[in-house]
Amino acid sequence: MDVVLGFDPSWLPAAIGLYADAGLGTKEPARLAAALRASHAVATAWDGARLIGIGRVVSDGVYYATVFDVAVAPAWQGRGVGRALMAALEGSVPAGARLYLTATFGHEGFYRGLGYRRHRTAMAKYPDGASPYLDGDEGGDDDASP
Ligand SMILES: CC(C)(COP(=O)(O)OP(=O)(O)OC[C@H]1O[C@@H](n2cnc3c(N)ncnc32)[C@H](O)[C@@H]1OP(=O)(O)O)[C@@H](O)C(=O)NCCC(=O)NCCS
Repeated sequence: MDVVLGFDPSWLPAAIGLYADAGLGTKEPARLAAALRASHAVATAWDGARLIGIGRVVSDGVYYATVFDVAVAPAWQGRGVGRALMAALEGSVPAGARLYLTATFGHEGFYRGLGYRRHRTAMAKYPDGASPYLDGDEGGDDDASP
């Protein structure tokens, strides 16, 4: 397994398939390409020519960095791919920057094992309707990014 930093449009369709397979919802190609291009770092994991994992960081490059959209192909989960992706993403962030993320339900322990801790005052505002990730919302689509 190899981990590579950077975005290449040639693997965009594979990334969309990977996100769907991993339960992170349906990504629209043009929007996902724009988001990947604008990210501070994109890490991908490969088994030969096959995309098996992806994740990205949005950052100001100095103080703050937020990890988004980490996904490993179901057949490869539990084999260290997610840990390797996170190591590559963290390595792209300047020393001293604070790291943030929101986990999907049931995967909090993955990040806890990498040293992340629950934030006492984290808040979020979603413009696109109810989300089971937000206090007070009962409905919404939990088959999507938090
Ligand atoms: C969450 C995810 C990225 C983890 O990737 P992975 O490749 O399966 O994880 P790894 O094999 O690298 O696991 C690293 C460590 O975390 C642990 N771990 C993995 N998933 C875990 C979970 N859900 N809860 C608790 N611990 C977990 C592993 O046991 C392993 O521990 P060890 O080093 O002590 O053996 C992957 O399961 C995934 O893609 N899930 C679906 C998409 C998703 O919800 N992504 C999160 C978006 S925020």
